[in-house]
Amino acid sequence: MRNSSIRPAASAILLASALNLAAAAPPTSATLDRGRYLMNGVVACANCHMARGPRGEYLPDKGLSGGLLFQDKMFTAYAPNVTQDRETGVGKWTDAQLARAIREGVRPDGSLIGPPMPVEFYRHMSDEDVNAIVAVLRTERAVSNAVPKSTYNFPLPPSWGPPVTSVKAPSRADKVKYGEYLATIGHCMECHTQRDPKGMLVTASLGSGGRVFPGPWGESISRNLTPHESGLKSWTDAQISNAVRGGVDRYGTPYKPPMAYQHYKNIDDSDMAALTAYLRSLPPRPFGE
Ligand code: HEC
Ligand code: HEC
Repeated sequence: MRNSSIRPAASAILLASALNLAAAAPPTSATLDRGRYLMNGVVACANCHMARGPRGEYLPDKGLSGGLLFQDKMFTAYAPNVTQDRETGVGKWTDAQLARAIREGVRPDGSLIGPPMPVEFYRHMSDEDVNAIVAVLRTERAVSNAVPKSTYNFPLPPSWGPPVTSVKAPSRADKVKYGEYLATIGHCMECHTQRDPKGMLVTASLGSGGRVFPGPWGESISRNLTPHESGLKSWTDAQISNAVRGGVDRYGTPYKPPMAYQHYKNIDDSDMAALTAYLRSLPPRPFGE
């Protein structure tokens, strides 16, 4: 009798301490490698969140402490500080709160994160990948940098969609599907698709380009990524890879920002092949239509 009344309690304590250990366990190096690979590559959070100097140059010492201004007819948005600083960054947020901010666009205080943070795309990021990115954010040095609040000239929607519970990435064996997954978490189509006057992506013209990006570089216009004559139809795989990973066109002329070429150069060959297979699977559409 005595034994049977003690045992459950003792095992409950053991279980509780095992759970504590699990919660406190540092992420594995494989998790951190995966998170770094994504962030230094196709996901490129730094393209928006890295602190920059007056000519738009990266300030690596200041890490992801934000400040970049996005000016649009619809908004004046600033990339916030996402370093571990407890006052001006996200140092006080839990891992779950960070994952929710990335995939659902909801801050711990319940407010909604606005564009151009590509939440509509990040919703489809797998649990494994979002956790890997959060683990890397935790390793970021705290940098104090107070960033102004964004203002939007339109009411943000009540949410970006239902809560994201569990997402699995498609198998790498399915090249087209996995390529679509990479293009989604890399939010390629965010820039390569036009938006309607309400700011919604025109899905019927997915990937056909034509969005205009004004900036210190003058103006750049996103290209047609579909296999149409006005798009990538006659391009070789090597030319597509050179454009994405090398930032140069078929004649070797460098492209203008804001595409994240400095990061995309780290996309590995197998992921580049998957991205290319996906682009080739898109329905051909004329430029901007
Ligand atoms: C295209 C630019 C862009 C990209 C890419 C981007 N962000 Fe953001 N992010 C923003 C902007 C702008 C905001 C603020 C929007 C607002 O003020 O409502 C934001 C907000 C956030 C916030 C909320 C912070 C706060 O204090 O409110 C977090 C956390 C965040 N981003 C993390 C990330 C991570 C992690 C990645 C990569 C997986 C990423 N972002 C990629 C532009 C971007
Ligand atoms: C922040 C916006 C943005 C994002 C994100 C983006 N691109 Fe681009 N992309 C552009 C712009 C703008 C150009 C044209 C630049 C120029 O004309 O100098 C371009 C050019 C290209 C080209 C050259 C095509 C041609 O006909 O010359 C390819 C290929 C391409 N992007 C593929 C991708 C892929 C794949 C991704 C995702 C991994 C991606 N882009 C993400 C904005 C973006």
